Amino acid sequence: MTGAKVLVVDAGGRGNAIAHAFARSPNVDTVYVAPGNAGSEMLEKCRLAYESGTPVKSIAELFNFAEKNNIDLTFVGPEGYISDGIVNFFQERDQRILGPMKEAAILEGSKCFTKDLLKCIDVPVPPCQNFSWAKEAKEYAKQYCLENPANGLVVKADGLAAGKGSIVCSSIKEVVSTIDRIMIDPRLFGPAGDRIEIEERLEGRELMFFALSDGKNVLPLETAMDYKQAFAPDEKVAIRLFNKLSGNPNLDNNPNTGGMGGFSPHPWLDEELKEKIMNRIALPTIKGFKDVKGIDYIGIIYFGLMITEDREPYVLEINVRLGDPEAEVILPRLITDFYWLSECMLDKKLHQIQLEWSPEYCVGICAVSGRAIRSLSSGSEERPGYPGEHYTNMPIHGLEKLDPDALVYHNGTAFSTDSRDKRKLFTTGGRVLTLASKGLTLKEARSKAYDNIKRIRFNGMRYRKDIGLGYI
Ligand code: AMP
Ligand code: GLY
Repeated sequence: MTGAKVLVVDAGGRGNAIAHAFARSPNVDTVYVAPGNAGSEMLEKCRLAYESGTPVKSIAELFNFAEKNNIDLTFVGPEGYISDGIVNFFQERDQRILGPMKEAAILEGSKCFTKDLLKCIDVPVPPCQNFSWAKEAKEYAKQYCLENPANGLVVKADGLAAGKGSIVCSSIKEVVSTIDRIMIDPRLFGPAGDRIEIEERLEGRELMFFALSDGKNVLPLETAMDYKQAFAPDEKVAIRLFNKLSGNPNLDNNPNTGGMGGFSPHPWLDEELKEKIMNRIALPTIKGFKDVKGIDYIGIIYFGLMITEDREPYVLEINVRLGDPEAEVILPRLITDFYWLSECMLDKKLHQIQLEWSPEYCVGICAVSGRAIRSLSSGSEERPGYPGEHYTNMPIHGLEKLDPDALVYHNGTAFSTDSRDKRKLFTTGGRVLTLASKGLTLKEARSKAYDNIKRIRFNGMRYRKDIGLGYI
């Protein structure tokens, strides 16, 4: 029997890491990635999915590709395809696809819905309220701050905002200005800010908890520490410059990003905490979802948690997918055959699985398109860089200098030709690539990752220097 053909639907670094996990399975022959990026073609057994020379992108094109190429299993990475109903579309036509149905996308697509659901089923969340009107939201915030002068607040756009829609505020002035900037002007996140959620700012440590669900059985994955803020806390000058160039009056606000790097395993998830999270959060959420929506949640579920000093977990957000860059640091540690695991999830046989993990640490650092100046015919323009406005289409150098065991998962790259008609790798996004390295200790993994990322260059390249620091 020949090996299986898999189609991974994802355009980013997470998609590279998922494709890499499938490619390591002895049961898999070929992994197609769509829409993918330049990195999808650089992994063994992996190639981009094309139809008549054009990359496949739409749900109908992906379905036709799967049918024509006898794909055994399609795995869907990002929320966008899930909420557009790719899983429903494939399943209605008897194509095997792994991921949650579109009805589940609301868990990620509406923070207001999710917090209401979690409160209703007694899953711990920070004290929070939803608002459709800025005036009411501001009145609530002012009253709250009067009554709780020691607590901070977080303002969250209800809808999707590429991981940037939650703004942690340190004063009532900042809360009020953030409400205005989301709901009134400049409407930072567009219609995603029609409603907002305001919640109490919790102190503690963050933990991204991932679980696999077949609707009945829920199995925890390994966890990762994520670094969401764009800058290290001591980069005060860079933060102010970023905000100045972005037109943000809150000059000291360290902006959130989709993620700047991370490491796995998480330094303080032990069995006791894992059990608490499973029993109080993961299992009740999967059951609560079924009770409300009437369908099984099948696929990966992601809980963004705050663990308070007394080791109590609270849900800050839920996502219906693997995290990016968490996938890039968790999946390289997975020893269990990812194809078999995916098949078991789809066939509701997760109870047969016992996951096996490498004891190694994995550290991932995201290289992003940072502040850059470009000369234009009308002069020069300086852009603040990711997560704000940034330049793309910058040539990337140095990948050939990396150690053979350094993993490079591309977030936003493409091949194109330079002025001399030579095929080269270029940046296409804010997050460009995630360099991941493994080591027997966090210190070793960290020093390998930093040693390698220094060999990569592109105009405006920036990365955080403190991933894993403080935990070694
Ligand atoms: P979210 O989009 O809800 O995951 O929030 C993005 C980031 O904002 C989180 O990863 C936290 O760093 C921070 N955050 C969100 N909610 C809270 C909260 N209630 N207390 C403290 N920090 C928060
Ligand atoms: N790293 C955060 C996310 O994937 O949403």
